[in-house]
This record gives sequence, structure tokens and C-alpha cells, in this order.
Amino acid sequence: MKTCKSSDGKSDGQEWIYTDIVKDHFLNPRNFLMGDESKFKADAVGLVGNPICGDQMKMFIKVKDDKIIDIAWKTYGCASAIASTSALSELAKGKTLDEALNITAKDIDNYLGNLPKHKFHCSILGHDALRDAIEKYRSGK
Ligand code: FES
Repeated sequence: MKTCKSSDGKSDGQEWIYTDIVKDHFLNPRNFLMGDESKFKADAVGLVGNPICGDQMKMFIKVKDDKIIDIAWKTYGCASAIASTSALSELAKGKTLDEALNITAKDIDNYLGNLPKHKFHCSILGHDALRDAIEKYRSGK
């Protein structure tokens, strides 16, 4: 673990402690969607905003036999949101839709080795976008 200053421009003057795994997922985000969204050919797309900070998350899923066979995401979010959603995408890939819905913010936090407490809300952004994508998939939207 190493102490880092904020890298998302929203520092409140505190130093944050990020684990090495958080930094790895921030610097090398898994399943991040680069470029043209239409090339991913998603079965459903979730889109949410975080009312606490105004950041946004878009989640793309491909589904077969009730399982998430591929997942991608984009965000206007902070370092913690990027690391959290990268982790979530790894946790959700290959899961059934119900299993993916049951992934909690705490699961993501545990996977990452704990986010700073005041950044915990950032881990909810990806989860809400995934929930929105699954609901849209199930409702045929
Ligand atoms: S500060 Fe907005 S998601 Fe982290």
C-alpha cells in the first residue's frame, strides 16, 4: 500500500490510501471500451449518473444463455470509479444475470483491498450501470 494524492481533480486536501490493486485497475482498466461503441455490439446498455458528484457511467453487456459473456464500460468518473468498475467487470464476466446483480459494492471493495472510505460511493456507479443494463436487457429495451 502507498499513500497517494488525488488524481481526479476532486481532492479535498486529504491524502488517500490506494492499494496496489486499485492503482493497477486505475492505470490498466479491464474491459474499458475504447473508440466506437457500436463495434461492441451490446445486447443492452446501462447509463447512470452519480448524484453525489455528477460523474457518469455507461455499461455494455453481451448476454447468452442468461450469462454475461462479455462486458465493457466507459465513464466520466474518478480514479476510484475507474478501478471499481474495472474490478466489477472482471467479477461479472461469465456470471449469470442474477449472480451479477448480487455482486455488492462490498465485494468490489474486498476485491480491490479496500477503497478509501470517502470514495466508497464511487464503487456504486459501475454497479448501478450494470443493474440498468440488465434491467434493460430483461425488459427488451
Ligand atoms: S467522485 Fe464521482 S464517482 Fe468517484
